[in-house]
This record gives sequence, structure tokens and C-alpha cells, in this order.
Amino acid sequence: MTPTLNLTINGVPQQIALDDPRATLLDVLRERLGLTGTKKGCDRGQCGACTVLIDGMRMNSCLALALSHDGAEITTVEGLAQGDTLHPVQAAFIAHDGFQCGYCTPGQIMSAVGLIAEGEAGLDPERVREGMSGNLCRCAAYAGITEAVLDATR
Ligand code: FES
Repeated sequence: MTPTLNLTINGVPQQIALDDPRATLLDVLRERLGLTGTKKGCDRGQCGACTVLIDGMRMNSCLALALSHDGAEITTVEGLAQGDTLHPVQAAFIAHDGFQCGYCTPGQIMSAVGLIAEGEAGLDPERVREGMSGNLCRCAAYAGITEAVLDATR
């Protein structure tokens, strides 16, 4: 019998029939739901490109077995902006050039949103770098990323 996965994704309840019960949340988002803002980099938990919020906590979706999160609320980068208004973290990444090629950016932004939500008010540069250390940027735009996260907490 094909298992059914119930997720609320960016505020919208979804029922997804899973042909493969071993599917990761990353593959469900990208391949089943077309939410390609979440990127696949290493596919082994090392780069952070696939970061999403699961019940408000940031997580590498490539390491998340989709079925084990049945009933969860998922937020992807597509769920941040309100209409034409960017989320403050998105706006801060633009204001501080927190990217170059942009491939890692959705994961960086979701990780930053999660880090700020974890209650790290008053983040200083060192805590931001530590908190964002699971998100790699091959272009090394780290200075702008750190500035963007700090700005978004102000
Ligand atoms: Fe998930 Fe790299 S694709 S951590």
C-alpha cells in the first residue's frame, strides 16, 4: 500500500502519496511539489543548501526521511515573502550582497531565519558565524552573509 504523507507546506495542507517510502523531504519538495527553491548540493548533510524549517526548526532536508515528519509544518524559501514584500532576512541579504552565484542562498536564508527564531537576539558576528557554520558558500560571500544576518536581527 502506498503511504500518504500529510504536510503543511508554507501554510498549505498537502497530501502526498509516496511511491517510495524512503524519499527524503528534499526530494519530495523538489520533485513531487516543484518547490525547487530548496537546493540539492551535497545530498549528505554537509553543505546546508537544502535547509528548511520543520516545525520552526532549521534542518537539512536531504537528511530528513519525509515519512518521519508526517503532520509537520514545513517552511521553504518560497514561503517567506508576503506578496511583493520580501522577508526581512531576504531584504538584508540583498542590501549586504550576501551572495554571489546564489546557489546556496535559499539555504543560507532559511538557516538565518531559523537562527534568529531560536532567540538569538543580540547576535554578534562570532555567534552568527558559529550559528551559520552549517551553510557553506563556495563563493565565500561570508562577510556579506554575516552582515545580512546581523542587520536582520536589528
Ligand atoms: Fe543537504 Fe547539502 S544538500 S546538506
